[in-house]
Amino acid sequence: KPAVVVAIDGPSGTGKSSTSKAVAARLGLAYLDTGAQYRAITWWMLHHGVDVADPAAVAAAAATPVVLSGTDPRSPTITVDGTDVSAPIRGPEVTGAVSAVSAVPVVRELITGLQRSIAAEATAGIVVEGRDIGTTVLPDADLKIFLTASEEVRAARRSGEIGRRGAAEVATTRADLARRDAADSSRAVSPLAQAGDATEVDTSHLTLDEVVDCIATLVEERK
Ligand code: C5P
Repeated sequence: KPAVVVAIDGPSGTGKSSTSKAVAARLGLAYLDTGAQYRAITWWMLHHGVDVADPAAVAAAAATPVVLSGTDPRSPTITVDGTDVSAPIRGPEVTGAVSAVSAVPVVRELITGLQRSIAAEATAGIVVEGRDIGTTVLPDADLKIFLTASEEVRAARRSGEIGRRGAAEVATTRADLARRDAADSSRAVSPLAQAGDATEVDTSHLTLDEVVDCIATLVEERK
């Protein structure tokens, strides 16, 4: 039987990355962070002065950057044209621009092709996390998970990650998340959506370990 492919989708702040990495590490699978790929191509656009508010300019530039993803769940790296951009792609400039760049159809075609070939080459199996993995990128995945959490919990988690602690800062984070989710869910091409055959896991009241246990059990059942 071919290697197991796990798709984990959901909005920001649901614990997708921590969960996906931990599931991959526990089960000995490779790991692919597709959000990091969209962030990397966005970093390249900003670095080269492309007007990210202009879809035609983004489309014209999209074929140039070479985005490479490391698939080791313990130290996933991401490079663009040989530069390690793992840190800068998490900054506010990239976070503010990534939804616009990732809504451009040519960008999605290029990155989707890359994601499919990485998954096909993962002979030991792979966990792929994103927004459209179960619906569009890997519709034949062995297991599809859709992670959710209440807005309060998501804003609190994301604030903790980026070191925003005051009530006003948490409110800002909550507004950022809501803006990005609205953009990601409403775009024309492969929006954020739950696949019909995905298992929904509400992480609001679960610890990371509990979510990982739940998904690892589901993977074992599908093997
Ligand atoms: O997961 P992360 O928050 O790093 O994703 C950053 C952005 O990349 C998302 O807000 C979304 O605009 C885009 N994205 C996407 N499709 C994916 C993964 C991420 O459009 N499969």
